[in-house]
Amino acid sequence: MEKSHIGRLLVVGVGLIGGSFALSLKAAGACREVIGVALQEEVCEEAKKLGVVDRAYTSLPEALDLLEEGDLVFIAVPTLAVESVFAQLKDNLPEGVTVTDAASVKGSVQRSAEKVWGRVPNFLVLGHPIAGSEKSGVSAARDDLYRDHRVILTPVPDTDVDRLRLVAQAWQAAGSEVLTMSVEEHDEVLAATSHLPHVIAFSLVDTLAHDAENENIFRYAAGGFRDFTRIASSDPVMWRDIMLANRDAILQAIDLYSLNLSSLRSAIASGDSSALMGVFTRAKAARDHFTKMLAKQAYSEPMQAKEVTFIAQPGGTVSGKLRVPGDKSMSHRSIMLGSLAEGVTEVEGFLEGEDALATLQAFRDMGVVIEGPDKGRVTIHGVGLHGLQAPPGPLYLGNSGTSMRLLAGLLAGQGFDVTLTGDESLSKRPMNRVASPLREMGAAIETGPEGRPPLLIKGGKPLSGINYRLPMASAQVKSAVLLAGLYAEGETSTEEPAPTRDHTERMLQGFGYAVERNGACATLRGSGRLKACRIDVPADISSAAFFMVAAAISPGADVMLEHVGINPTRDGVINILRAMGGDIELLNKRTVGGEPVADIRVRYAPLKGIAIPEDQVPLAIDEFPALFIAAACAQGQTVLTGAEELRVKESDRIQAMANGLSALGVSAEPTADGIVIDGSPEDAVFSGGTVDSLGDHRIAMAFAVASLRAKDTIRILHCANVATSFPNFAELAVGAGLKLQLA
Ligand code: S3P
Repeated sequence: MEKSHIGRLLVVGVGLIGGSFALSLKAAGACREVIGVALQEEVCEEAKKLGVVDRAYTSLPEALDLLEEGDLVFIAVPTLAVESVFAQLKDNLPEGVTVTDAASVKGSVQRSAEKVWGRVPNFLVLGHPIAGSEKSGVSAARDDLYRDHRVILTPVPDTDVDRLRLVAQAWQAAGSEVLTMSVEEHDEVLAATSHLPHVIAFSLVDTLAHDAENENIFRYAAGGFRDFTRIASSDPVMWRDIMLANRDAILQAIDLYSLNLSSLRSAIASGDSSALMGVFTRAKAARDHFTKMLAKQAYSEPMQAKEVTFIAQPGGTVSGKLRVPGDKSMSHRSIMLGSLAEGVTEVEGFLEGEDALATLQAFRDMGVVIEGPDKGRVTIHGVGLHGLQAPPGPLYLGNSGTSMRLLAGLLAGQGFDVTLTGDESLSKRPMNRVASPLREMGAAIETGPEGRPPLLIKGGKPLSGINYRLPMASAQVKSAVLLAGLYAEGETSTEEPAPTRDHTERMLQGFGYAVERNGACATLRGSGRLKACRIDVPADISSAAFFMVAAAISPGADVMLEHVGINPTRDGVINILRAMGGDIELLNKRTVGGEPVADIRVRYAPLKGIAIPEDQVPLAIDEFPALFIAAACAQGQTVLTGAEELRVKESDRIQAMANGLSALGVSAEPTADGIVIDGSPEDAVFSGGTVDSLGDHRIAMAFAVASLRAKDTIRILHCANVATSFPNFAELAVGAGLKLQLA
């Protein structure tokens, strides 16, 4: 932790906030001495006794006399008392001393400074720690109050950069993350996230406490009351000041809240169950997200920014029965079509991975009431083809190419504008492949430079059907065109150069929408209706593939993968592994909800290298990272061609796998449209080492599987995105016998 270079710290107002700052800097050894100033003698005595300050005074000018250049004054008095502190500083502050504060309303402190000095002086750095407690007073002070919390500094143009740096360093020494923003932005954000909740908590407790008919009401109050109203025991003076100081922004927040509360009241009054579920499911999703953020890193970055490293050790095995999570492609489509259907769609086996959840959240943002997911169950209250509403802001789709491309088609036919954004990897992926055919249909779509995200889709454009010949084998492009076709005048048809996954066509039919299929062509007419249905999502063959390869390369292995989707447009991994000598049995074949499903048994058998038939490439497009691991363990050479699409997946999978394989001592030569891998039947094919998954979930899981035939530990970097498609991968892998740890 960086130490600040302050000399003495003078704390004006030695309560919870000031005292905790003093204790934090003392604990970090970041200042030479702490001097306290408090109005009351008893507080001075207590602060000294508790070791919060070294010396304490009731007179500010007297304490200021002790300061010299390089020292820091920290003002931690209620917001409206800051001005009188400024007035005393005006004539008594020694040269070279920096001043900062902790008041919750920066606009009011700025105005106080302007009253006293005529402007905000360059030595004054306005700040506000986003931390606190309902407790108050010096006895509540703690040296860890600010650790892992954010502090917002609101410099003005006159603020001296060296003073700003000094204050930032002091907060960093206290363990805080320092952010800067404008005074106005700070006050608006805080009005919504802090001041409004306090207004509501104070008012609720006051209302209940004065409810004459319920004298003993608190006797019956339990956890809900306690959790919701904890902050109503905060310091009244401080909160009175905040209300007075941030009046306008707080009034705005209260008005918005009152409006929403009164529509909730109407929903209750009229028994509008759907409106109630809408508010409650949206709020629950938002709160659950916030809970996760808090659990990962207090007040810190969103989940996906968390670093995860896989440490995969040799010596593992695989055996037993496994059920991998639901199919990602079908999970996306179940939300999309369920939302556009009339009636209530029940989904089972839904993949609770970040990608499918991004789609789910997008539809919630467009006003669809969606219950769950809860253990794979989702209930979607469909709004019909024309019932979506404009979302409140851009739809953030994380890492999910499928969400962005399919949504582009579906949103091209809406009456509102929408912007689609994504994470760093998604922001590099090509979108013209969907934008071009959709524009041909009449859509207005803007992309970022070189056809990359973000996508801005203008609403209200009439679409007309087209006959689209896909230039590449892509189910996402085919699906985007067909989904736009639901809104187009006349007939829309697609013709693909090779069969790709047909879940969109099958699921549309499952929702009662006519799709004519004729060889490579799929055709539908616009303006039909989708009728709600039940969807049973089978386990994802793309996730099962990691365990299929694991069993295929691990001597003695015998694995049963249950209830896996084996749609013929997805079964390339089975065909390719079998061609390599893999021992794979499909048991208990059945059809579930229009999709073929089986239990897949894979036993170890020695593999041999092959030239992978090009017609299998689209049927195994997501499984190549795993298949390359199988190829490395096979006798002889494996050659892949016709797979240039792999270069534009979540990463350039050809290059990423070639780099990783080479780092582990395997000869792997990338080519423009594939790779050549020289396999080896030895026990330990892979040396130990470090590989970079480049944040690509499937690269990360593939190299974890490689550990089954490794000499030494394989460290795999940037694995957090495994949660996009297979959130419990590590757990299942360890349960099956792999030696995998997370760091
Ligand atoms: C998908 C189609 C494929 C696949 C992706 C999911 C889908 O992408 O790689 O993981 O659900 O339609 P392309 O259409 O780009 O081949």
